[in-house]
Amino acid sequence: MVWVLGTKPQSFVRAMNPASFEIWLLALVLTWPGTLCTEKTSDRPSMARCSLFGDDFINTFDETMYSFTGGCSYLLAGDCQKHSFSILGNFQDGKRVSLSVYLGEFFDIHLFVNGTVMQGDQSIAMPYASKGLYLEAEAGYYKLSSEAYGFVAKIDGDGNFQVLMSNRYFNKTCGLCGDFNVFAEDDFRMQEGALTSDPYDFANSWALSSGEQRCKRASPPGSHCNSSSGDMQKAMWEQCQLLKSASVFARCHPLVDPEPFVALCEKTLCTCTTGPECACPTLLEYARACAQEGMVLYGWTDHSACHPACPAGMEYKECVSPCTRTCQSLPINEVCQQQCVDGCACPEGELLDEGRCVQSSECSCVHAGKRYPPGTSLSQDCNTCICRNSLWICSNEECPGRLCTPFLPFLCGEA
Ligand SMILES: *[C@@H]1O[C@H](CO)[C@@H](O)[C@H](O)[C@H]1NC(C)=O
Ligand SMILES: *[C@@H]1O[C@H](CO)[C@@H](O)[C@H](O)[C@H]1NC(C)=O
Ligand SMILES: *[C@@H]1O[C@H](CO)[C@@H](O)[C@H](O)[C@H]1NC(C)=O
Repeated sequence: MVWVLGTKPQSFVRAMNPASFEIWLLALVLTWPGTLCTEKTSDRPSMARCSLFGDDFINTFDETMYSFTGGCSYLLAGDCQKHSFSILGNFQDGKRVSLSVYLGEFFDIHLFVNGTVMQGDQSIAMPYASKGLYLEAEAGYYKLSSEAYGFVAKIDGDGNFQVLMSNRYFNKTCGLCGDFNVFAEDDFRMQEGALTSDPYDFANSWALSSGEQRCKRASPPGSHCNSSSGDMQKAMWEQCQLLKSASVFARCHPLVDPEPFVALCEKTLCTCTTGPECACPTLLEYARACAQEGMVLYGWTDHSACHPACPAGMEYKECVSPCTRTCQSLPINEVCQQQCVDGCACPEGELLDEGRCVQSSECSCVHAGKRYPPGTSLSQDCNTCICRNSLWICSNEECPGRLCTPFLPFLCGEA
C-alpha cells in the first residue's frame, strides 16, 4: 500500500518543529481525513491483541511471533483504511521507550515506560481525558484507550506493550502488529505492499524518521550464543519446559500451541545473564495469550520463578477486575461489566487510596476536591465532622439560625 498525501496548508507545515515534522507528516497521512468509525459491525465483544514483550519479541494480532530490536519509531497498528488514528512504538538502542498515539492531524500523546506522559512539550498528569481518549493508571498498567476509536494501548510494570484493537478493524490495520485478518502467513506485509519472509525487512519498512535524524535500518543482533554457567542455563531451560509439562499450562494447550513459545523461550537462553527468571516474559505472554482465548491460567506464577512487577504494596494476580475498589468508590457492590485482566491489585481486604493500598480504616476523605487524612475533623457552624473510613461522620446539632442544607450534603451526616 502506498500512502497518498492530501493537500495541506504550507504555513502550518513551516510552523512545526522540524524535529517532529516527519513523524507528524506520517501521522497526518495516516489520519487524513480523520473520519471516526462509529458503525456497529462486531458480534464478538472481544478485541484482537498484539504484544511487544521480553527483550525484543513481538506477537502480532494473528499470532506470528518474531524478534525485532528497533532503534527508531515504528507504526505498530492503526486504522489503515480511514486513517483516524495510529499507534507508534518508539525504540532506542533496541529497547522499548514509549508508545505514541496520533488522532486526527493535530493530536498526539506519548506514554513512556516510566509513566511520564508528554503532549508536545507539555508533561501531562494521569488521569487525563481529551478527544475521546483516556489516559489512566489501572491494575498496574499505564493505559491509553478510546472506546470511540476502538483501541487500548498499555504498558505493564515490566515495560511490555500491549495493543488491543476492536474487531471493526479486521483486515484494516497495518504495521508491526500485522494485518489482523486471522492469517498469520501474510503478516509480514511491508509498507510498500509486498510480502516478505524477513522480519527485519518487514519491520524496517514501518519506520518513521523524525527530522534530520533519519532512521537507520535496524539489523538483527549477532546470533552468537554466550555460554553462561551451565547450572543457570539448565534452570532456565527447565522454566521454558514448564510450558509443555506443567499442568497449569497444559489446560491451555488445545487453545494456544505452546511450541512456538518454548522455542522463543529457549532462544533467550543465549542472552540470559540473570537466572531462571529470563523465561518469565515468555511464560507471561503465554498466559496472556490463553487469557485472550478465554482461559485464565490461575496460579501459573506459583508454579514458576515468575513475579510480574507491580507498584509497591500491590500484588500480581491472573485476574483483576479493571474496576478497582478504591476508598472513594461506593461502598456497595458495583457491577463491573468489564472482563478481568491480569495485573496488580491490593491484597484482600485493602483498598486503593491515592495509589497506595490501605485498610478501610486508613482511607482518606475528600472535601471540596481536597484530600484529608483519616481522623481529620472539620467544623461547620456548630457541628463537627470527622473523617472515618473515607466518610465524613458529622454531629447533628441544630445550629442557631442555620440548618444543615442540601447544598452541603457532606455536613449533613447522611451516612
Ligand atoms: C521517564 O523517561 C523519560 C524518557 O526517557 C525521561 O525524560 C523522564 O525524565 C523520566 N521520568 C522519570 C520520572 O523518571
Ligand atoms: C482483506 O482486504 C483485502 C483488500 O483490502 C482483500 O483483498 C482480502 O480478501 C481481505 N481479506 C479478508 C480475510 O477479508
Ligand atoms: C556476549 O557477551 C559479550 C561480552 O560479555 C557481549 O558483548 C555480547 O553482547 C554478548 N552476546 C549476547 C548475544 O548476549
